[in-house]
Amino acid sequence: MNDKQKYYITTPIYYPSDKLHIGHTYCTVATDTLARYKRLQGYDVMFLTGTDEHGQKIELKAQEAGITPKEFVDRIVEGPRGVKDLWKLMDISNDRFIRTTDDYHVKAIQKIFRRMYDNGDIYKGTYKGKYCTPCESFWTESQLKDGCCPDCGRPVVDAEEEAYFFRLSKYADKVKDLLENTDFLQPRSRVNEMVKNFIEPGLEDLCVSRTSFSWGIPVDFDPKHVVYVWLDALFNYVTALGFENDRYDDYEAWWPGINIVGKEIVRFHSIIWPAFCMSLGMPLPKHVFGHGWLLLDGGKMSKSKGNVVDPYILAEQFGVDALRFFLMRTFPFGSDGNFSNELLIQTINTDLANDLGNLLSRTTAMVGKYFGGGLPAGCGATADEKDLAGMIAQGNVVGLTMDFPEGDPTKYDCELIGAAAALRGKYEEAMEAFAPHKALDEVFKVIQRANKYIDENAPWALAKDMEANGARLAHVLYDLLEATRICGILLTPFMPGSMEKLFVQAGVDKAAQTWESAGVWGVLSDTAAVIKGENLFPRVDAQAALEKLEAAEAEARKAALPAVEFEPFTEDEVDFDTFCKSDFRAVKVKDCQPVKKSNKLLRFTLDDGTGTDRQILSGIAKWYKPEDLIGKTLVAIVNLPPRKMMGQESCGMLISAVHTEKGEEVLHLLMIDDAIPAGAKMC
Ligand code: MSP
Repeated sequence: MNDKQKYYITTPIYYPSDKLHIGHTYCTVATDTLARYKRLQGYDVMFLTGTDEHGQKIELKAQEAGITPKEFVDRIVEGPRGVKDLWKLMDISNDRFIRTTDDYHVKAIQKIFRRMYDNGDIYKGTYKGKYCTPCESFWTESQLKDGCCPDCGRPVVDAEEEAYFFRLSKYADKVKDLLENTDFLQPRSRVNEMVKNFIEPGLEDLCVSRTSFSWGIPVDFDPKHVVYVWLDALFNYVTALGFENDRYDDYEAWWPGINIVGKEIVRFHSIIWPAFCMSLGMPLPKHVFGHGWLLLDGGKMSKSKGNVVDPYILAEQFGVDALRFFLMRTFPFGSDGNFSNELLIQTINTDLANDLGNLLSRTTAMVGKYFGGGLPAGCGATADEKDLAGMIAQGNVVGLTMDFPEGDPTKYDCELIGAAAALRGKYEEAMEAFAPHKALDEVFKVIQRANKYIDENAPWALAKDMEANGARLAHVLYDLLEATRICGILLTPFMPGSMEKLFVQAGVDKAAQTWESAGVWGVLSDTAAVIKGENLFPRVDAQAALEKLEAAEAEARKAALPAVEFEPFTEDEVDFDTFCKSDFRAVKVKDCQPVKKSNKLLRFTLDDGTGTDRQILSGIAKWYKPEDLIGKTLVAIVNLPPRKMMGQESCGMLISAVHTEKGEEVLHLLMIDDAIPAGAKMC
């Protein structure tokens, strides 16, 4: 029996209606960081993510693609560069991945729906309202913003249908109490918005079934209805543990957990979700945390607007850990932030290359240069230093005053040790408050302090007289390695792969990588083998990187375009007599020349069978060299009125076949059998 404390944390389940972007990645990386932090602390962690696969939007997208909804979502979830691949690339440590099309979930939702119907919380009625198709949300008139969906700003449609309703109104007071009088919803600043905008105007019963489309979980006792996607989706947090199904048996042990969600879905998680739980007598989630959005040029990034940033491109160019770090370091977790590539590069250069990278590479290089890769025994923490660090870590030293004479190296040691010893406590406080950006801020203060310690101690000067200063030099380098170790442990949840490498370079063995040891000074073995290894965070040349990014993004946009596209077929009929008026003839190319000052036009001299040459100008220079066309038999319409182009007359038009490939127009002149004589009529 596992007696470790349990910690259950979830991301929202993502709509696989399109590839996921950096905004989704932000949410998953943040949740992963929290999960890894709790594992580091020794908790038994269950981390769930997944995909929300039903609903009208996906049904429509699949229709457009000419495949079934299941085939459509399979591609996006399981396919190359799909959701699962993205999480693998981003080093996401989820223990489970739920898809709402998973059979066990479907059956569980049917049972849940029936239970709420049987307990009287779901009843049948008629729905009249405003529906936002992309968001799958019904709204009341008063909730609309300028007549449009308050979430995405797009137009809504009138919708009316026989439907099942959930008695949300019945739970209004209890939910209000939960929001106002507990720490259920975080950050606290979101509480007011929920209460003022949604609860105080009056909570109406919620429509929880649809008949207008079929891609959803059928209500088993009334199968022309499918379950509303949000009921289907919210319960993923417990069906993935085995609630109302036999696939897992973890519900009792793990629920309740913590739901991390974006701000626009806080409403569903902080009002509807607890009301559902109350209806079934389930424990309520411990916390719902609503994080902010990553914005692009100040506006929302969205798959449907097409202005999204591709995490694959960024991770491939800058490295997974640099991207993870940037997301957590730059944007305060509860607020919105403006994403930009420039900011990403700046963060990598300042924090990772300059501060952390330099600390590690300078320290390991000096251990190599002055001590051949291993410090001498006895250079480690003194008993006094350990005591001091212990008192600071316990919080027993308030306002440490150190009256060292100017230039006394003990002053530098005490300051560095003091900062490093106090770090774990500050970091923990921030992480517990869902403020990973603050935790990183604390870590970087210590890294900066350590870099300053190098300059204060000037190891290169000490090294000039090893006999006199060798012991001091070794102690300085030990302190630097020890500060690096403590920071490295606390950075592990943010950059797991890179910290493994850091530990190897700094000679930190497994026992010195634990949470406990991050709170103790002097754990590192003083004789550990230190390696000056690869540069973990190389400096990025901003201009070259931005150009490369632009090229990769253009390439990706092109790759995302359909392979081949044709003009849509016209639905207007043309009567036969009108059609017959167009005079199409076989023509032979006698001469073909470029037109001066035009990079589009070619001038054709054509034999049209009349004995008089015909001149036609055609905008096809992009696709053909003039000399390749001489002698070819083409098709021209010859009874169009003559037209002047670049000062020259064109009498007719050559016929071509056109289509689009990867967004580029492709043209082929219609060439016919050379046995056909010039002037032959096409009919
Ligand atoms: N399927 C629902 C969630 C159901 S949970 C029971 C959904 N899916 S979503 O794919 O549209 O969004 C999933 C999450 O990604 C949301 O938390 C949303 O806030 C987050 N993000 C989407 N774009 C984002 C940004 N630009 N920035 C930060 N997070 C964003 O909603």
